[in-house]
This record gives sequence, structure tokens and C-alpha cells, in this order.
Amino acid sequence: MKVDVLLGLQWGDEGKGKIVDVLTPKYDIIGRFQGGPNAGHTLEFNGIKHVLHTIPSGIFHDNKINVVGNGVVIDPVIFKKEIDALIKLNVDVKSKLILSKRAHLILPTHRLLDAASEAAKGSNKIGSTLKGIGPTYMDKTGRNGLRVGDIDSPNFKAKYDALVEKHKQLLNFYNYQYNLEELEPAFFEGIEVLKSLKRIESEHYINDALNNNKAILAEGAQGSLLDIDFGSYPFVTSSNTICAGACTGLGIAPNKIGNVIGIFKAYCTRVGSGPFPTELNDEVGEQIRKSGNEFGSTTGRPRRTGWLDLPALKYAIMINGVTELMMMKADVLSDFKTIKICTHYNYQGKKIDYLPFDYSPELLSPFYTEVKGWHKDLTELNSPDQMPKELNDYIAFIEKETGVPISIVSVGPDRTQTLIRKGVKAATV
Ligand code: GDP
Ligand code: IMO
Ligand code: MG
Repeated sequence: MKVDVLLGLQWGDEGKGKIVDVLTPKYDIIGRFQGGPNAGHTLEFNGIKHVLHTIPSGIFHDNKINVVGNGVVIDPVIFKKEIDALIKLNVDVKSKLILSKRAHLILPTHRLLDAASEAAKGSNKIGSTLKGIGPTYMDKTGRNGLRVGDIDSPNFKAKYDALVEKHKQLLNFYNYQYNLEELEPAFFEGIEVLKSLKRIESEHYINDALNNNKAILAEGAQGSLLDIDFGSYPFVTSSNTICAGACTGLGIAPNKIGNVIGIFKAYCTRVGSGPFPTELNDEVGEQIRKSGNEFGSTTGRPRRTGWLDLPALKYAIMINGVTELMMMKADVLSDFKTIKICTHYNYQGKKIDYLPFDYSPELLSPFYTEVKGWHKDLTELNSPDQMPKELNDYIAFIEKETGVPISIVSVGPDRTQTLIRKGVKAATV
């Protein structure tokens, strides 16, 4: 067996959580491979709306194992809250969730450092979720970090204190005011919760499972355009959000990757700072934000909105080796008579069809193709045969431009509002 990878192709919030939940019945194991509580993955079913931050989106299904891989960074405080919320919903978290001992821990001082660093950047701020992601990955690559496997060590508190001491010096450098004593009790309560969960060498677990023909789905967080290497640096997150991140974040060899499922919205959104070529700062953008309820699942911030950007989508497909696409939130565009799709850019006076190194608005502007909208409520559709012609045309246009089949069209947030295009050449549906 091989590991299928599901990831976001834009700037995050594409609807990964919903689709992982929809696909989980086909898999035995769901594994998160990077990011941390900067993610907010929303699932809706049976009238329940639930947002997961660190826990994989397969957790609501019975007899499935959810692995938090070594590439993930865990904030014990947020993790405890997530677990408490699941227990309230009678989810048997302890039997379904396992953690890699190699996953790094987000300390309260990492969160403080994130806030201090952002404040110091002023108008150049990244727009971080302030969950301590950047400072934690910095300590990981700087070889200073604390890992889940350290919590059993008799020296854990001493290691914690030594790292906090370093962080205090940095916080002094930033001249940042804080009260750590207020934050620490919740952190150590969270550590006790981690101790109550199964902690393993998940790379062995995953590879043994593969050898035993178990079906595994790797769940990405953020989006390809927020990748530390290939995103719009420095306005990115601090991990490899792309398919390669599944190898390093779960311990899977590249030749064990199977299908690569790319999730994208029928338009684009971005939360936080950084370039966004098709951004709409007008009433059209406002309408998309309103119909799509485009407010952050983690921070509640309004998301920036814009038309679908094909050069950016093609870039993400290339970097990830996407074998199959899934288009989300088609219902949100139902009110528009016409819909625009960016096919090229004007880059310093030249027409190009690829995403360049720097796509700041002063260098680049989009060329659009305008297509007819479907002007029909899609939320009640229950088969792709009922899709209006204009939506089929929109899909055919994207498939032709990208060369990748679209296997699912999502028409609402609920699990059931998912149109599976059985006729297309796709492996996972
Ligand atoms: P993720 O981070 O990729 O898992 O995405 P988020 O959960 O942050 O954001 C996606 C939002 O869109 C959530 O509020 C979902 O409930 C919602 N959503 C997902 N698919 C659809 C869809 O097809 N239509 C609509 N209207 N909402 C959707
Ligand atoms: P999911 O998994 C959308 C954005 C932040 C900011 C930048 C860096 O729900 O799709 P960080 O906190 O990582 O230092 O923030 O990345 N960002 C996300 N945007 N969805 C996410 O996750 C995001 N995680 C981080 O807004 O611009
Ligand atoms: Mg999200």
C-alpha cells in the first residue's frame, strides 16, 4: 500500500478538514504531518460544527487511528482544550489518537515570542496566528526544542527551564512585557494530558501499517502558497506544507506516496499579510466573503477574497505532483452572473502564465477570462448529474488548464453536500 496525501493548494482554509472527514471511511489511519494549532479544520455533520486544530480530521469516525506526526508542533494547552471538547461529544479520543514522540512542543514562551516578533515587525508583520509556530520551528531547526518524548524524562522540567531562560533573554531583547506565571499552569496541565495519551515512534507505526496493507491518508495543514520554501516568503508559515512535508513529517519514503489530492476553492482567499494577485478589494470581494462566510476558523479574522488564480494553482499542482483535484465552495459563487478566472499575469509589462519569484502587487497584475455564472443554488444538489451546464463548463475549463481531473465538487459545509464525480479518472473516490 501507499500513502495518499491530501493538501491545500492555495493559502489555506480550502476545506481540507471537511474532505478528510468525507474520505476517512476509505482509510484505516489519518496522519497530520506538519503545522500545529495555526490550523483550523472545520467539519460539519448531523448538525454539529466542529473545528480541529492539531488533531487529525478522521477523529469522529470509529475504528480509525489518528496520528499526530513528528512534523507537527503541539501546544499542550490548545491540545487539552481540543481533547476536552471531543470528550464532551463522546469521542473516544484515547483509543483513536496517537502522538509521535518526535513532535515538538510549543511552550508558552514560544507564543510570547511570536507576539513580540510580530509587534517588532510593525507594518511588515506576517499576520501570524500568534500560536507560537515560527519560534517553535526555529527551536526545532536550531536544535533547542523540546519534544513529546521528553515529557517522560526526569529532566523534563530542567530542560523546560533552560529553554525558557533563553526565551526570556530574547523577550527582553524585544522589550516585551509578559506574565509567564499566569501561563505556565495550563501548560503543565496540558503536559499531563499528553502523558495520558499513547506516544510512539510513529515512523515505525506508519511503515508497519503500510507493510500490513493498511490504507493511510496524510492530512496537510495550511496551503502550498504558505509553504516555507515555495510560498510567498516571508509571508508564509514555518513548515513544508507541500507533499514532500508528508515524507519528513510522518517518516514515509517518497516512493511510498500514492495519490496526491489537491483541495482548492472555486475562488481564492488569504488570511494574514502577503501578496494576493487576484484580491478583490471591492463589493465583489465583500460579497464572496459574506456568502462564503470567510472568517478565520482559528482567529476569526476576515479572510481576504479574490477570483480563482490558475497560474498559482498550476504552480501548486506542479510542486505537489497532484493527481486529483477537489473543488470546494462552488455554492458560494452561485449569485454571480459572470465569474472571472485569472489565466495569466502582466508581470512588469510581460504576459506570463506562471507564478514568479516575487508577485507583489507593484510588479504583477492579473489577466482574466470571464465565464458565465450558473446562477443557481447548489446546496441542495445530491448528484453531479444535477450540476448546471455553466458549472460543468467552469470545471472543464479548470481541468483543461491544469490537466488534472476534479473528482469532488463541494457545494456546502456539511459532509453530505459533496458531489462525487464517479466518471472522472480519479483513484480516491
Ligand atoms: P481547512 O483549514 O482547509 O480545513 O478549511 P477551514 O475549515 O478553515 O475553512 C473552510 C470553511 O468553509 C469552513 O467553515 C467549512 O465549514 C466551509 N466549507 C467547506 N466546504 C464548503 C463548501 O463547499 N461550501 C461552503 N459554503 N462552505 C464550505
Ligand atoms: P489551515 O490548516 C490559513 C497563515 C497566517 C499567516 C501565516 C503565518 O486552517 O488551512 P503562522 O501562525 O503559521 O506563523 O502564520 O500563515 N496561516 C493560515 N492561513 N489557514 C491556515 O491553516 C493557516 N495557518 C497559518 O494567517 O498569514
Ligand atoms: Mg482552516
